[in-house]
This record gives sequence, structure tokens and C-alpha cells, in this order.
Amino acid sequence: MSIETTLILIKPDGLYRRLTGLTIDRLDASGLEMVAAKIVSVSKDLAEKHYAEHVGKPFYPNLIKYIRGEFHGLSDHRVLALAYRGEDCIAKVRAVAGATNPEAAAPGTIRGSFGRVTTAGQFENVLHASANPADAAREIALWFKDREILP
Ligand code: RTP
Ligand code: MG
Repeated sequence: MSIETTLILIKPDGLYRRLTGLTIDRLDASGLEMVAAKIVSVSKDLAEKHYAEHVGKPFYPNLIKYIRGEFHGLSDHRVLALAYRGEDCIAKVRAVAGATNPEAAAPGTIRGSFGRVTTAGQFENVLHASANPADAAREIALWFKDREILP
């Protein structure tokens, strides 16, 4: 176990449905510390860099639209980007978030409580959380400048 920092994005469905407070409440209750926070307008370039691992998958085109708020009428493309830090933070946040598919996510998790699958089969799962230390480092550098994160 070690002290890790992870990236969280409250996605456009989370903002549109006013789930920001509930989501942060769950993250804070897990004993981890918020060390960065800002609203970001997600350019196509940033969305594509963030989700580079999914290029070519069937859900990829809609994933880029989803993270840019195009299914929620958010023409400013906003998400809330957060960094949290603590012992074993990456796995802890993934556990609090729950499984990718909201219908498979455990009831007590954020996605299990608040996520949904649209009639078109799109997973609207409220938040992104880095999957492993390498992804966390890459993603934090993509979304935050060094001076925006508490040392
Ligand atoms: P995230 O990266 O957003 O934290 O989610 P994750 O690790 O749990 O899942 P990942 O496999 O990285 O997928 C990224 C996002 O793509 C959408 N997705 N849709 N319809 C589908 O089969 C499908 N699979 C993935 C979700 O928005 C997922 O969070
Ligand atoms: Mg992922």
C-alpha cells in the first residue's frame, strides 16, 4: 500500500442531474483527501487524449460525445475534474465508483446508486476514475497543471 493520487471526472450526466454533491460526499466519506478541483470545458482533443485506449471500440464515438456533454445539452462541454489522494486511493475510488455498467454496479456504489443505461445502450455512469497508477499519472498531467494540485 502506498499514498496515491487519482483523477476523477464528474461526467456531464452527473453535472446535469445535480449529482456533484452526492458524489463528492461519497468520495469524502471514504477517508480520502481532495487535492484539486476545477470545471473544465472538454475539447475534442482532450476527450480523445483522455480516452485514447478506447479508439476503435464500438462505443468510442458516443463516448466522446458523452464526455463532451452532447447527450445532456451542455454546449459548454463542462465536467468537474478532481484529484483525490490517500493510501491505496486508486482502488478505493474505483470501489466507491462501482462497476462500469451501472446495471451491474453494486447498489451501494455511486454508479449502482445513480448511474443508468439509456435506451440506446449508453452507460451514463456519473464519474470517471483512473484505473491504475500509470493511468492516474497520465490523466492527472492531462487535466491539471502541477500548480493546481496541492503538493
Ligand atoms: P472510466 O474510464 O470512465 O472511469 O470507466 P471505466 O474505467 O469503468 O470503464 P472503461 O472500460 O474505461 O470505459 C470508459 C467509458 O466508456 C463507456 N463505455 N461504454 N456501452 C459500453 O459497452 C461501454 N463500455 C464502456 C463508459 O462511459 C465507461 O465509463
Ligand atoms: Mg477507464
